[in-house]
Amino acid sequence: MSMWKCWFRRLAQFAFVAAAAPAAAQSWAWDDGTVPFVVTPEEIVERMLRVAEIGPTDRLLDLGSGDGRIVIRAAQKYGTRGTGIEIDPSLIARSLANAAAAGVSDRVNFVAQDLFDTDLAQASVITMYLLPEFNLKLRPRLLALAPGTRIVSHDWDMGDWVPDESLELRTPEKAVGRDGRSRVFLWLVPADARGRLVGEIADHGGAWEFRFDQKYQQIEAAARVQGHDLVVRGTRLRGREIKLVVTGVVDGRPWNQLFRGEIDGDTVRGEVLVSNGESARRLPWTAKRHP
Ligand SMILES: C[S@@+](CC[C@H](N)C(=O)[O-])C[C@H]1O[C@@H](n2cnc3c(N)ncnc32)[C@H](O)[C@@H]1O
Repeated sequence: MSMWKCWFRRLAQFAFVAAAAPAAAQSWAWDDGTVPFVVTPEEIVERMLRVAEIGPTDRLLDLGSGDGRIVIRAAQKYGTRGTGIEIDPSLIARSLANAAAAGVSDRVNFVAQDLFDTDLAQASVITMYLLPEFNLKLRPRLLALAPGTRIVSHDWDMGDWVPDESLELRTPEKAVGRDGRSRVFLWLVPADARGRLVGEIADHGGAWEFRFDQKYQQIEAAARVQGHDLVVRGTRLRGREIKLVVTGVVDGRPWNQLFRGEIDGDTVRGEVLVSNGESARRLPWTAKRHP
Protein backbone atom coordinates (compact mmCIF):
# COMPACT_ATOMS: atom_id res chain seq x y z
CA MET A 1 0.00 0.00 0.00
CA SER A 2 1.38 3.47 -0.88
CA MET A 3 2.26 5.86 1.94
CA TRP A 4 -0.67 8.11 0.98
CA LYS A 5 -3.15 5.23 0.92
CA CYS A 6 -1.87 4.02 4.28
CA TRP A 7 -2.13 7.51 5.78
CA PHE A 8 -5.62 7.98 4.31
CA ARG A 9 -6.72 4.64 5.76
CA ARG A 10 -5.45 5.63 9.20
CA LEU A 11 -7.14 9.03 8.97
CA ALA A 12 -10.43 7.46 7.89
CA GLN A 13 -10.20 4.94 10.74
CA PHE A 14 -9.47 7.72 13.20
CA ALA A 15 -12.32 9.94 11.93
CA PHE A 16 -14.65 6.97 12.16
CA VAL A 17 -13.81 5.99 15.73
CA ALA A 18 -13.86 9.65 16.81
CA ALA A 19 -17.30 10.17 15.30
CA ALA A 20 -18.70 6.84 16.47
CA ALA A 21 -17.44 6.94 20.05
CA PRO A 22 -16.07 10.35 21.00
CA ALA A 23 -15.75 9.55 24.70
CA ALA A 24 -14.22 6.11 24.25
CA ALA A 25 -10.61 6.93 24.86
CA GLN A 26 -9.29 3.50 23.99
CA SER A 27 -10.54 3.88 20.41
CA TRP A 28 -8.47 7.02 20.11
CA ALA A 29 -5.21 5.08 19.85
CA TRP A 30 -3.91 3.54 16.66
CA ASP A 31 -3.90 -0.23 16.38
CA ASP A 32 -0.26 -0.26 17.48
CA GLY A 33 -1.17 1.50 20.76
CA THR A 34 0.40 4.85 19.91
CA VAL A 35 -1.27 8.27 20.15
CA PRO A 36 -2.09 9.93 16.81
CA PHE A 37 -1.07 13.49 15.97
CA VAL A 38 -4.05 15.72 16.75
CA VAL A 39 -3.48 19.35 17.61
CA THR A 40 -4.71 21.17 20.68
CA PRO A 41 -6.71 24.22 19.52
CA GLU A 42 -4.78 27.47 20.16
CA GLU A 43 -7.40 28.70 22.64
CA ILE A 44 -6.94 25.53 24.71
CA VAL A 45 -3.15 25.85 24.49
CA GLU A 46 -3.55 29.30 26.03
CA ARG A 47 -5.80 27.94 28.82
CA MET A 48 -3.32 25.14 29.55
CA LEU A 49 -0.49 27.64 29.95
CA ARG A 50 -2.58 30.01 32.04
CA VAL A 51 -3.83 27.33 34.42
CA ALA A 52 -0.18 26.37 35.00
CA GLU A 53 0.63 30.06 35.69
CA ILE A 54 3.62 29.60 33.45
CA GLY A 55 6.35 32.23 33.40
CA PRO A 56 9.84 33.06 32.20
CA THR A 57 11.59 31.10 34.97
CA ASP A 58 9.76 27.86 34.20
CA ARG A 59 11.11 24.89 32.25
CA LEU A 60 8.35 23.42 30.11
CA LEU A 61 8.26 19.88 28.76
CA ASP A 62 5.52 18.92 26.29
CA LEU A 63 5.25 15.14 26.06
CA GLY A 64 4.23 14.26 22.50
CA SER A 65 4.73 17.76 21.14
CA GLY A 66 3.19 17.37 17.66
CA ASP A 67 3.81 20.55 15.65
CA GLY A 68 5.40 22.24 18.69
CA ARG A 69 2.59 24.70 19.33
CA ILE A 70 2.48 24.47 23.15
CA VAL A 71 6.22 24.97 23.61
CA ILE A 72 6.31 27.70 20.94
CA ARG A 73 3.42 29.69 22.39
CA ALA A 74 4.86 29.47 25.90
CA ALA A 75 8.16 30.88 24.61
CA GLN A 76 6.52 33.57 22.49
CA LYS A 77 3.96 34.83 25.00
CA TYR A 78 5.46 33.97 28.39
CA GLY A 79 9.21 33.87 27.69
CA THR A 80 9.38 30.24 28.88
CA ARG A 81 12.20 27.90 27.87
CA GLY A 82 10.78 24.63 26.69
CA THR A 83 11.42 21.24 25.13
CA GLY A 84 9.08 19.22 22.98
CA ILE A 85 9.44 15.43 23.02
CA GLU A 86 8.06 13.84 19.87
CA ILE A 87 8.40 10.34 18.47
CA ASP A 88 7.74 11.33 14.85
CA PRO A 89 10.85 12.94 13.28
CA SER A 90 8.80 14.66 10.56
CA LEU A 91 6.94 16.56 13.31
CA ILE A 92 10.26 17.56 14.86
CA ALA A 93 11.27 19.12 11.53
CA ARG A 94 7.90 20.90 11.37
CA SER A 95 8.27 22.15 14.96
CA LEU A 96 11.74 23.53 14.29
CA ALA A 97 10.43 25.42 11.24
CA ASN A 98 7.46 26.73 13.26
CA ALA A 99 9.80 27.86 16.06
CA ALA A 100 12.02 29.70 13.57
CA ALA A 101 8.98 31.39 11.99
CA ALA A 102 7.80 32.44 15.48
CA GLY A 103 11.28 33.83 16.32
CA VAL A 104 11.75 31.61 19.41
CA SER A 105 14.42 29.14 18.23
CA ASP A 106 16.75 30.34 21.01
CA ARG A 107 14.25 29.39 23.76
CA VAL A 108 12.93 26.03 22.55
CA ASN A 109 14.22 22.70 21.39
CA PHE A 110 12.61 19.53 20.10
CA VAL A 111 13.88 16.03 20.71
CA ALA A 112 12.94 12.98 18.66
CA GLN A 113 12.48 10.31 21.30
CA ASP A 114 9.96 8.19 23.14
CA LEU A 115 8.41 10.17 25.98
CA PHE A 116 8.76 7.12 28.24
CA ASP A 117 12.55 7.35 27.82
CA THR A 118 12.59 11.04 28.77
CA ASP A 119 14.05 12.47 31.96
CA LEU A 120 11.14 14.44 33.41
CA ALA A 121 13.06 15.96 36.33
CA GLN A 122 14.26 18.91 34.24
CA ALA A 123 10.71 20.34 34.06
CA SER A 124 8.79 22.68 36.34
CA VAL A 125 5.74 22.39 34.05
CA ILE A 126 4.73 19.33 32.00
CA THR A 127 1.99 19.47 29.38
CA MET A 128 0.46 16.54 27.55
CA TYR A 129 -2.34 15.65 25.19
CA LEU A 130 -2.07 11.87 25.14
CA LEU A 131 -4.46 9.14 26.23
CA PRO A 132 -5.73 7.94 29.63
CA GLU A 133 -3.54 4.84 29.61
CA PHE A 134 -0.47 6.95 28.79
CA ASN A 135 -1.31 9.30 31.66
CA LEU A 136 -1.70 6.36 34.05
CA LYS A 137 1.58 4.82 32.93
CA LEU A 138 3.33 8.15 33.50
CA ARG A 139 1.63 8.77 36.86
CA PRO A 140 4.19 7.12 39.20
CA ARG A 141 7.02 9.04 37.54
CA LEU A 142 5.06 12.31 37.71
CA LEU A 143 4.33 11.78 41.42
CA ALA A 144 8.06 11.30 42.06
CA LEU A 145 8.93 14.74 40.65
CA ALA A 146 9.82 17.74 42.79
CA PRO A 147 6.82 18.86 44.87
CA GLY A 148 5.08 21.78 43.21
CA THR A 149 5.82 20.63 39.64
CA ARG A 150 2.73 21.49 37.58
CA ILE A 151 1.22 18.94 35.20
CA VAL A 152 -1.43 19.96 32.68
CA SER A 153 -3.34 17.48 30.55
CA HIS A 154 -5.71 18.20 27.71
CA ASP A 155 -8.85 16.04 27.84
CA TRP A 156 -7.60 13.05 29.83
CA ASP A 157 -7.39 12.68 33.58
CA MET A 158 -5.14 10.69 35.88
CA GLY A 159 -7.49 8.05 37.34
CA ASP A 160 -7.98 8.41 41.09
CA TRP A 161 -5.37 11.20 41.36
CA VAL A 162 -7.97 13.96 41.28
CA PRO A 163 -6.86 17.23 39.69
CA ASP A 164 -6.15 20.35 41.73
CA GLU A 165 -8.07 22.32 39.10
CA SER A 166 -10.12 21.45 36.05
CA LEU A 167 -12.08 23.38 33.48
CA GLU A 168 -14.22 22.53 30.50
CA LEU A 169 -14.60 24.66 27.40
CA ARG A 170 -16.63 24.48 24.24
CA THR A 171 -14.38 23.76 21.26
CA PRO A 172 -16.72 23.13 18.32
CA GLU A 173 -13.80 23.54 15.92
CA LYS A 174 -12.07 20.47 17.39
CA ALA A 175 -12.11 17.67 14.83
CA VAL A 176 -11.97 14.86 17.40
CA GLY A 177 -12.54 14.37 21.06
CA ARG A 178 -15.30 14.82 23.53
CA ASP A 179 -18.60 16.20 22.16
CA GLY A 180 -17.10 19.47 20.91
CA ARG A 181 -15.63 20.14 24.33
CA SER A 182 -12.14 20.24 25.74
CA ARG A 183 -11.21 19.59 29.30
CA VAL A 184 -8.07 20.94 30.93
CA PHE A 185 -6.69 19.39 34.12
CA LEU A 186 -4.00 20.73 36.45
CA TRP A 187 -2.15 18.73 39.11
CA LEU A 188 0.56 19.94 41.44
CA VAL A 189 2.95 17.22 42.56
CA PRO A 190 2.18 17.00 46.29
CA ALA A 191 4.90 17.15 48.93
CA ASP A 192 5.15 14.20 51.29
CA ALA A 193 3.25 15.30 54.42
CA ARG A 194 2.75 11.88 55.97
CA GLY A 195 3.61 11.09 59.56
CA ARG A 196 3.87 12.76 62.93
CA LEU A 197 4.98 16.37 63.03
CA VAL A 198 5.77 18.18 66.26
CA GLY A 199 6.54 21.86 66.80
CA GLU A 200 6.49 24.45 69.59
CA ILE A 201 4.28 27.50 69.38
CA ALA A 202 5.57 29.82 72.06
CA ASP A 203 2.78 31.68 73.93
CA HIS A 204 0.10 29.44 72.46
CA GLY A 205 -0.17 25.98 73.90
CA GLY A 206 3.51 24.93 73.67
CA ALA A 207 4.09 21.64 71.81
CA TRP A 208 1.64 21.00 68.98
CA GLU A 209 1.49 17.54 67.46
CA PHE A 210 -0.01 16.75 64.07
CA ARG A 211 -0.59 13.41 62.38
CA PHE A 212 -1.12 13.41 58.63
CA ASP A 213 -2.40 10.57 56.46
CA GLN A 214 -2.11 11.26 52.77
CA LYS A 215 -3.39 10.01 49.44
CA TYR A 216 -1.98 12.14 46.61
CA GLN A 217 -2.80 15.72 47.71
CA GLN A 218 -5.67 14.65 49.97
CA ILE A 219 -4.84 14.86 53.66
CA GLU A 220 -6.52 13.53 56.76
CA ALA A 221 -5.17 15.35 59.77
CA ALA A 222 -5.34 15.07 63.55
CA ALA A 223 -4.02 17.67 65.99
CA ARG A 224 -3.20 17.47 69.69
CA VAL A 225 -2.03 20.08 72.19
CA GLN A 226 -1.81 20.09 76.01
CA GLY A 227 -3.12 16.50 76.02
CA HIS A 228 -6.34 17.42 74.11
CA ASP A 229 -7.43 16.31 70.64
CA LEU A 230 -8.63 19.27 68.58
CA VAL A 231 -10.96 19.43 65.55
CA VAL A 232 -9.15 19.76 62.21
CA ARG A 233 -10.94 20.82 59.03
CA GLY A 234 -10.29 22.61 55.78
CA THR A 235 -7.02 20.77 55.23
CA ARG A 236 -5.41 21.52 51.90
CA LEU A 237 -2.10 20.49 50.33
CA ARG A 238 -1.07 22.25 47.13
CA GLY A 239 2.42 21.28 46.04
CA ARG A 240 4.57 22.19 49.07
CA GLU A 241 1.98 24.45 50.67
CA ILE A 242 -0.21 23.08 53.46
CA LYS A 243 -3.14 24.84 55.13
CA LEU A 244 -5.42 23.64 57.91
CA VAL A 245 -7.91 25.06 60.35
CA VAL A 246 -7.86 23.74 63.93
CA THR A 247 -10.47 24.61 66.55
CA GLY A 248 -10.57 23.84 70.25
CA VAL A 249 -9.62 24.89 73.75
CA VAL A 250 -6.02 26.07 74.19
CA ASP A 251 -4.75 27.60 77.44
CA GLY A 252 -8.30 27.31 78.80
CA ARG A 253 -9.97 29.35 76.02
CA PRO A 254 -11.70 28.40 72.73
CA TRP A 255 -9.58 29.38 69.72
CA ASN A 256 -9.50 29.05 65.95
CA GLN A 257 -6.08 28.46 64.39
CA LEU A 258 -5.37 28.82 60.68
CA PHE A 259 -2.05 27.09 60.01
CA ARG A 260 -0.15 27.75 56.78
CA GLY A 261 3.23 26.23 56.01
CA GLU A 262 5.70 25.16 53.36
CA ILE A 263 6.91 21.57 53.49
CA ASP A 264 10.61 21.14 52.93
CA GLY A 265 11.66 17.51 53.47
CA ASP A 266 10.97 16.73 57.14
CA THR A 267 10.26 20.32 58.16
CA VAL A 268 7.22 22.57 57.84
CA ARG A 269 7.73 26.30 58.25
CA GLY A 270 5.05 28.93 58.25
CA GLU A 271 2.71 30.82 60.53
CA VAL A 272 -0.50 30.37 62.43
CA LEU A 273 -3.28 32.94 62.65
CA VAL A 274 -4.84 32.59 66.11
CA SER A 275 -8.25 34.19 66.70
CA ASN A 276 -11.21 33.93 69.06
CA GLY A 277 -13.60 36.57 67.71
CA GLU A 278 -12.22 39.22 70.06
CA SER A 279 -8.56 39.26 69.16
CA ALA A 280 -6.26 37.81 66.51
CA ARG A 281 -2.50 37.43 66.19
CA ARG A 282 0.01 35.78 63.88
CA LEU A 283 2.67 33.51 65.32
CA PRO A 284 5.56 31.70 63.63
CA TRP A 285 5.14 27.93 63.32
CA THR A 286 7.81 25.32 62.63
CA ALA A 287 7.24 21.58 62.91
CA LYS A 288 9.51 18.60 62.33
CA ARG A 289 8.66 15.08 61.32
CA HIS A 290 9.34 12.54 64.05
CA PRO A 291 9.32 8.76 63.74
C1 LIG B 1 -2.55 14.27 20.38
S1 LIG B 1 -0.98 14.75 19.77
C2 LIG B 1 -0.66 16.21 20.71
C3 LIG B 1 0.28 17.20 20.03
C4 LIG B 1 0.55 18.48 20.81
N1 LIG B 1 1.09 18.18 22.14
C5 LIG B 1 -0.71 19.29 20.95
O1 LIG B 1 -1.29 19.24 22.06
O2 LIG B 1 -1.10 19.95 19.99
C6 LIG B 1 0.07 13.51 20.51
C7 LIG B 1 1.47 13.49 19.97
O3 LIG B 1 2.22 12.54 20.71
C8 LIG B 1 3.13 11.90 19.84
N2 LIG B 1 3.50 10.63 20.48
C9 LIG B 1 2.75 9.50 20.56
N3 LIG B 1 3.39 8.56 21.27
C10 LIG B 1 4.56 9.09 21.64
C11 LIG B 1 5.67 8.60 22.40
N4 LIG B 1 5.67 7.37 22.91
N5 LIG B 1 6.73 9.42 22.60
C12 LIG B 1 6.73 10.67 22.09
N6 LIG B 1 5.71 11.20 21.36
C13 LIG B 1 4.64 10.42 21.14
C14 LIG B 1 2.36 11.75 18.55
O4 LIG B 1 3.22 11.56 17.44
C15 LIG B 1 1.58 13.08 18.51
O5 LIG B 1 2.28 14.06 17.79
